Amino acid sequence: MYRVFSGMRPTGRLHLGHMAGALTNWVNLQDNHECYYSIVDWHALMSDYADPGKLGGNSEEILLDWLGVGLDPGKCALFVQSHVKEHVELHMALSLLTPLGWLERNPTYKEQIVNLQNKDLSTYGFLGYPVLMASDILLYKAHKVPVGEDQSAHLELSREIARRFNHLYGGGGEIFPEPETTLTRYPKIPGTDGRKMSKSYGNALEIADEIPALEKKIRTMKTDPARERRTDPGEPEKCPVWDLQKFFNPDAAQLGEISSGCRSAGIGCIDCKKYLIAHVAEHMAPIQARRRRFASNHDELMDILRDGARRAGEFAARTMSEVHDALGMLRP
Ligand code: TRP
Repeated sequence: MYRVFSGMRPTGRLHLGHMAGALTNWVNLQDNHECYYSIVDWHALMSDYADPGKLGGNSEEILLDWLGVGLDPGKCALFVQSHVKEHVELHMALSLLTPLGWLERNPTYKEQIVNLQNKDLSTYGFLGYPVLMASDILLYKAHKVPVGEDQSAHLELSREIARRFNHLYGGGGEIFPEPETTLTRYPKIPGTDGRKMSKSYGNALEIADEIPALEKKIRTMKTDPARERRTDPGEPEKCPVWDLQKFFNPDAAQLGEISSGCRSAGIGCIDCKKYLIAHVAEHMAPIQARRRRFASNHDELMDILRDGARRAGEFAARTMSEVHDALGMLRP
């Protein structure tokens, strides 16, 4: 059975973009793969080390979102990265053999240093972000890593690090399989202002938003900018509401009517949004009910994380003893 690893940083509640993109894929994989899904708190600290206050609370929120959308702790290991100490230990080992140049050339690194001007990211730790990520993946000898396009450069580095480790210590064999990026084709889920949905843009519909809050956000959402008046014909392909409609509306016939109604000015944006709101409510209601049920039982959440860390930890310990052997270290 193929093993899968993926992680998310606990920087706050997840939104419908995460749900439609990453999480749908994660849920599909859990039925026929051995899946490890981690709340990567050390990674969050790499950029937020100066302001760690909300880390614990955010980790719980993410877990609730995961459980809400249907990740099943009976099928996959759900755990917090820092609960499995081996992540940090393998990070140490891999950092020894990772050339500085690989990290300094990493396009994501260069981009973030420029984009996150309000944080001092010229640290030793932040430069090593992809090394910790490689450790996450290689610790479980994961074959597949379901991530978005933005993580491709990091994944390529993980493969290079695996290759270098195997070359140095594998004795012609392979200790770490090279992880494959399963680039999941994400549906386009724009935020309320039409830009990519993102918490930092303030345009996100959160998984945990109550239905009335979702409704309010959708009602004020931008539409095709060329359709100024109700009588102007619209162009669905230029409308962010249409992108959501395509994801949430399971009724093909109704979708067809909305699309042609928009083009002919037969229906207005308010009508279109009413349909969308109904479908979003229907889609989200069971997710939110599940989320609330877990939220009301803190002990159960902690049990899920403990059990996840135990299962992940068993695999991780086996990998680390191979690593210690490969490095010729004296075993206790
Ligand atoms: N860097 C990833 C992100 O920001 C999170 C992450 C950390 C991750 N470790 C990982 C993703 C390992 C996949 C595999 O989204």
